[in-house]
Amino acid sequence: MSELDRARDRSPVPRDWAYAPAPESRDVVHIDERYGHFVGGAWLEATETYETISPASEEPLAQIGQGTAHDVDRAVAAARDAQQNGWSSLPGAERAKYLFRIARILQERSREFAVLESLNGGKPIKESRDVDLPLAAAHFFYYAGWADKLEYAFPNRSPRPVGVAGQIIPWNFPLLMLSWKVAPALACGNTVVLKPAETTPLTALLFCDVLRQAELPPGVVNIVTGDGRTGAALVDHPDVDKIAFTGSTEVGKAIQRQLAGTGKRLTLELGGKAANIVFDDSALDQAVEGIVNGIYFNQGHVCCAGSRLFVQESIYEPLVEKLKRRLETLRVGDPLDKNTDVGAINSAMQLEKIKELVAAGEAEGAEIYQPPCRLPEKGYWFAPTVFTNVAQSYRIAQEEIFGPVLSVLTFRTPDEAVEKANNTPYGLSAGVWTEKGSRILWMAQRLRAGVVWANTYNRFDPSSPFGGYKESGFGREGGLHGLEPYLRFENE
Ligand code: NAI
Ligand code: MG
Repeated sequence: MSELDRARDRSPVPRDWAYAPAPESRDVVHIDERYGHFVGGAWLEATETYETISPASEEPLAQIGQGTAHDVDRAVAAARDAQQNGWSSLPGAERAKYLFRIARILQERSREFAVLESLNGGKPIKESRDVDLPLAAAHFFYYAGWADKLEYAFPNRSPRPVGVAGQIIPWNFPLLMLSWKVAPALACGNTVVLKPAETTPLTALLFCDVLRQAELPPGVVNIVTGDGRTGAALVDHPDVDKIAFTGSTEVGKAIQRQLAGTGKRLTLELGGKAANIVFDDSALDQAVEGIVNGIYFNQGHVCCAGSRLFVQESIYEPLVEKLKRRLETLRVGDPLDKNTDVGAINSAMQLEKIKELVAAGEAEGAEIYQPPCRLPEKGYWFAPTVFTNVAQSYRIAQEEIFGPVLSVLTFRTPDEAVEKANNTPYGLSAGVWTEKGSRILWMAQRLRAGVVWANTYNRFDPSSPFGGYKESGFGREGGLHGLEPYLRFENE
């Protein structure tokens, strides 16, 4: 035995790696008791309100306006007015100035926004701080850069703004989805009425203060809060030129039906059931990190989550063993603790949906694994979960769970992997893990998914377009492609 080994042999090995609490301070955030709607640069009193809570503790945070058709009408009128009287005729470089300001203010106030996002939505502070906020600011920086270059982006096509955009966003990435919607719309000279998701309105409402600081002209961005009824009123409004929606496939389909024949433009970013495919020549430990990031990031509340893991048969056992071991190290708990990996489930409703599908998985015969972890008593929680022995026909292999639940399936050949991966009504994203470059390209060509990540997962950049095939929706957000839905071209 070497000296070093001997020393190691004698030193006590700590068995319990419990971390001391490392809570982020809430003091940076101020929350009003009650909020109205942000219309024409001012606060419009809400006639009816509901309570928004922290899903980690069920603590009430504020009273939020339930927007009526009348509120939506006021907001659309303000947006139309701002669009016709200044914003769309402003030189692109001037519009860019505002977008750059917004981006810089988001960076400056990022800690405040990150804490509020985690408080209202339940996601770990580590993620809101390191992912949501930097990406939200990056989107504004990126589209600020395009505002004065639209003629170069679409040469000889005379790009013009579409008009008033109605935008409806979900609760999984509240501020980030706001930035995906607002930044390109404004860069192209449109004005906006945005409806945040009912469970996570607070960062959108704080964003109104960023608009005030940036001195954005009144009416260019209007925010009306409320549930699906408010969203439906926005979709229905005759003076909205374009609807951009991110959310469930069910509501996306309803919106498409509602808009048929109206001439309003529409982009839909809907659900997913992504395949994350691991070949036997891949670096297994890296793949395990990618699998974990793919499904447990943001509690699995991710439209592009890698929720179906396809493992080549020859490495099935070692991979699943490594994965289970890795799961034991995930820390589930207080979203505001800097060491937390998996936070709270966003709402009681979403928790019910996850529980129902997990029960269906067990009833259909899949084998469930959850690492030992103590879940807090108050709030909405679900332990990271892996299902093995999953058949393609099971509900857990077909339906979007939108929670920290992974279904493991196997394959033998690349052809079989492609066939199984594409066997879904969705087509938003996929992951491929292999050492072979040629195989990555071969797979990427055949996978019916808007994004294919190779040897990584859930990687985002504002310059890269994102969007789906089939029931995952249509239209692209991000990149040059993300400008197009907000522009009219010659002869249009
Ligand atoms: P949802 O689609 O009902 O909600 C998304 C947004 O649409 C919210 O702002 C909501 O207020 C609004 N909305 C609801 N009904 C509407 C209507 N008739 N007209 C216009 N707007 C409407 O999604 P929900 O109920 O929160 O979640 C259900 C499931 O949908 C989740 O379990 C998940 O599977 C999926 N989902 C997918 C998302 C994605 O990013 N692709 C985001 C959120 C949910
Ligand atoms: Mg719904």
